[in-house]
Amino acid sequence: MSHSFRHWFGSSTGHRLNSSIRAAFLFIVGALALIISVNCVFGREPLVLRASSSHVRGGDEGGNGGMQMLQHDGRQVESHEPVLVSEELRRTIKEEVRAEILAAMAEEEKKRRQEAPHARPGTLGDGERTVSRQEQLGQLYPPTATLSEGQRRRILVTGGAGFVGSHLVDRLMAEGHEVIVVDNMFTGRKKNVAHWIGHPHFMLIVHDVVEPILLEVDQIYHLACPASPPHYQYNPIKTIKTSTMGTLNMLGLAKRVRARMLLTSTSEVYGDPQIHPQPESYWGNVNPIGPRACYDEGKRVAETMMYAYRSQGGEGDSSMEVRVARIFNTFGPRMHPNDGRVVSNFIIQALQGKNITIYGKGRQTRSFQYVDDLVSGLMKLMNSDYELPVNLGNPDEYSVKDFALLVRELVRNMDSQIVHLPATKDDPAKRKPDITTAKKELGWEPTVSVRDGLAKTIEYFRKELEETGEITPTGPEAARPQPHVEESKRS
Ligand SMILES: NC(=O)c1ccc[n+]([C@@H]2O[C@H](COP(=O)([O-])OP(=O)(O)OC[C@H]3O[C@@H](n4cnc5c(N)ncnc54)[C@H](O)[C@@H]3O)[C@@H](O)[C@H]2O)c1
Repeated sequence: MSHSFRHWFGSSTGHRLNSSIRAAFLFIVGALALIISVNCVFGREPLVLRASSSHVRGGDEGGNGGMQMLQHDGRQVESHEPVLVSEELRRTIKEEVRAEILAAMAEEEKKRRQEAPHARPGTLGDGERTVSRQEQLGQLYPPTATLSEGQRRRILVTGGAGFVGSHLVDRLMAEGHEVIVVDNMFTGRKKNVAHWIGHPHFMLIVHDVVEPILLEVDQIYHLACPASPPHYQYNPIKTIKTSTMGTLNMLGLAKRVRARMLLTSTSEVYGDPQIHPQPESYWGNVNPIGPRACYDEGKRVAETMMYAYRSQGGEGDSSMEVRVARIFNTFGPRMHPNDGRVVSNFIIQALQGKNITIYGKGRQTRSFQYVDDLVSGLMKLMNSDYELPVNLGNPDEYSVKDFALLVRELVRNMDSQIVHLPATKDDPAKRKPDITTAKKELGWEPTVSVRDGLAKTIEYFRKELEETGEITPTGPEAARPQPHVEESKRS
């Protein structure tokens, strides 16, 4: 070193100068050594701290341009400046950042709940947040009540993606129950239950009830079965299988898990009735080999199986609890636009200014109930102690012609003319429920007038038409359900 020192400063330089430069050099080396040893004591790895508000909110919503200010021992650390800190300091800051992120998430969750009280809660725990696809899309669920574990039931709704089933699902979910829908999507539509998909209390299983299924449930609403004549006549053997094998499978399940089971039977069990209005005690007038028999007789044997299972359990055996609803014509939003029923056909024709087609003279009578009333009746029946069949329908009776005129008046499209086509085979001449049993045993009767119900249904079909452009109503002949336009576009 002395050699190089002399080389740089030269031998002509005096000893005094040499010794003061050497002293200054030694001082600098000593100072450097001190800095290095301090760093060795307090920190080994330098930490580059780059916390930003985006860690907390996933964006620059903090209003500070994405820069995070962290406090430590009264010192402010800005995120965009790399900082050297000790291990201990790093651990402390890490904890503080973590606490801060959790606090921000909790605050955000609180704000979100205030703005949308029924939004799905974010999963908040251990510093990790799982953001579901629904949350990313900002999807919210309809309001649901909170039930205690003891009050909440797990309820199976077969046919829950259909018209009536999906309204029933809405009400059960709103009450705070867990709902499992089993549906083969023959006439059901995913869009009918799409607003529940992803909800922790909801599950959709695409399954045909003709095949057994093993589930753990407390109650079974067994609705699976096409209900409109063109659809149930499309494959009559399948319709019979659905009503017989499907109901047997559900009864087997109900027996195994000791669930109470409700069957949605139909006013069709009365066939072309010879007494009017029809009480539950009437045995009916059904043509066993006519085009409607696959449905009518299928439901009749389904009822038989319900009571056979109950009585085979033995008197007083509480393990088989059955309920049977005999449903009369029901209408409302989510009816399948191509189901060929009176209500849907008349509304679709009137909305498009097309002729309203009546099969026969239009003197045959029907009574129409709004779907909300039916759902209330089904739930009351399920939760009552009454075990025999119960009629659920609106006794407000219309001739089919008067009903067509009412629809035209409400749609306000007088371009539509009423036209008559040949009557269909086995079309019942009269249909009106006697609802004395429902009133007495369930305290139930319809509350929605046909006019009010029609107004809501017309709005629904107006939107369907906006989406699809045009709908050609299905005639009385057997027809395969047409998929919804959105679903067909997707496939
Ligand atoms: N809507 C009415 O006016 C009326 C009248 C009397 C009885 N009912 C009864 O009410 C229930 C529901 O009727 P809706 O009007 O909602 O009919 P819908 O056709 O809209 O619904 C029936 C549902 O069952 C499903 N389904 C059919 N076969 C199935 C099978 N084998 N396995 C699984 N799922 C199957 C369909 O895909 C559909 O989602 C039916 O049992 C029907 O017989 C309805």
